[in-house]
Amino acid sequence: MTYAPREDRYDRMIYRRCGRSGLLLPAISLGLWHNFGHDTAHATKQAICRTAFDHGITHFDLANNYGPPAGSAEAAFGEILATDFRLHRDELIISSKAGYHMWNGPYGEWGSRKYMIASCDQSLKRMGLDYVDIFYSHRFDPDTPLEETMGALDHIVRSGRAQYVGISSYNSQRTREAVAILKDLGTPLIIHQPSYNILNRWVETDGLKDTLAELGVGSIAFIPLAQGLLTNKYLNGIPAGSRATQGKSLDPKVVEKATASVRKLNDMAAARGQTLAQMALAWVLRNGGITSALIGASRPEQVEDCAAAIRNLDFTSAELALIDAISEEKDINLWARSSSD
Ligand SMILES: NC(=O)c1ccc[n+]([C@@H]2O[C@H](COP(=O)([O-])OP(=O)(O)OC[C@H]3O[C@@H](n4cnc5c(N)ncnc54)[C@H](OP(=O)(O)O)[C@@H]3O)[C@@H](O)[C@H]2O)c1
Repeated sequence: MTYAPREDRYDRMIYRRCGRSGLLLPAISLGLWHNFGHDTAHATKQAICRTAFDHGITHFDLANNYGPPAGSAEAAFGEILATDFRLHRDELIISSKAGYHMWNGPYGEWGSRKYMIASCDQSLKRMGLDYVDIFYSHRFDPDTPLEETMGALDHIVRSGRAQYVGISSYNSQRTREAVAILKDLGTPLIIHQPSYNILNRWVETDGLKDTLAELGVGSIAFIPLAQGLLTNKYLNGIPAGSRATQGKSLDPKVVEKATASVRKLNDMAAARGQTLAQMALAWVLRNGGITSALIGASRPEQVEDCAAAIRNLDFTSAELALIDAISEEKDINLWARSSSD
C-alpha cells in the first residue's frame, strides 16, 4: 500500500539543536542495529520506520555492520527509502558508521583512511543514496593515527559523501583530540554517539558529558533503554521472542540480576504517569544535556510508546535522587564505559 506520512508529524516531536551546529535532531531517534536484518520480516521493518516518521522521528541511524548479515539493515532501509520516503529525503537525517569488522583482510575494520572511505562508499550503495547526513567513526582505533581517521572523515564530507561527521564511544580525552584535529581541518565535529542510560553512566564518570557541553558538540545516546531492560518487558521474567532470548547482545543473566531494581523504577514511572520506557528516555534527555535518545524497536507500538516520552521530560530532585539510589543497588551498572583506549 502506498505510504503517505501523517500531515501533523512535526507537531508530534520536539527538535533540539545538536551542539553548536545548525542541525536540529528529534529528541527521539530510531536505530536499526537489531530487527532490521534477514531475521525480521520486511513488513515489520517498514511498519517501524513508517510509525517513526509519522511521529516526527526524522533521524534514522545505521552502520555498515548492522544486520544480520552485516550490511542487510542498510539494504533494507534502502528499500524503504525507495518505496516510502523517496519524496522525503530532504526531511531525513540518515547516518552510518564504520569501525567494526565488515569484511575480511587487513582493510575491513578499525580506522584507516582506506577502510573508512571504502566502507562509506559501500554504505551509500546499499542504501541507494548519494550522501549520508552524518558519517561516524564507530570506535577509536588505538593503532591508526587519529589524524588519519579524522582526515578520512574530513575527506568524506569534502567529497560530498556526508554532510556532517561524528564519533562514537570515544572517551573524553580522545574526543578533545578529535575535535581539535577536525577543527584544524575545517570540518567540525558536531556529534558524539555514546552509550548512556540509567544503568550505564560512563559518560558522566569519564567526564565526556561535560567535555561535550564545553566544546559545543551534540550527543545522541545509544541503548537508552538498556536494550529493553528499562521497559516493562522483563518485569515478570523473560518473554519469548525478546532480545534476551535471542543469544545476541543482551545476556539473560544480566536481566535476572537487575529485575528487582527495574521493578522499583517501573513503580516510579507509574507514579509519574509514564511507562518505564518513557521515564528512562526522559531521564537521558533531562536538562537538555543529551541532544537525542537513540532507541531500537521490534514493533511499531514500541516506537509510539517511546515517542510519547517527550510529554514529560522534567524530574524533581527527589525523583532524580531516588533513581540514583535504585540504580546503585546490587551493582547493576551493567555496561561499563564503552571505550577505555
Ligand atoms: N555506536 C554504537 O556503538 C552503538 C551500539 C549499539 C547501538 N547503537 C545504536 O543505538 C540504537 C538503539 O540500540 P538498542 O536497540 O539496543 O536500544 P534500546 O532502545 O536500549 O533497546 C531497544 C529494545 O528495547 C525494547 N523496547 C523498545 N521500546 C520499547 C517499549 N516502548 N516497550 C517495551 N520494550 C521496548 C525492544 O526489545 P525487543 O527487541 O526485545 O522487543 C527493543 O528492541 C541501535 O539501533 C543503534 O542505532 C549504537
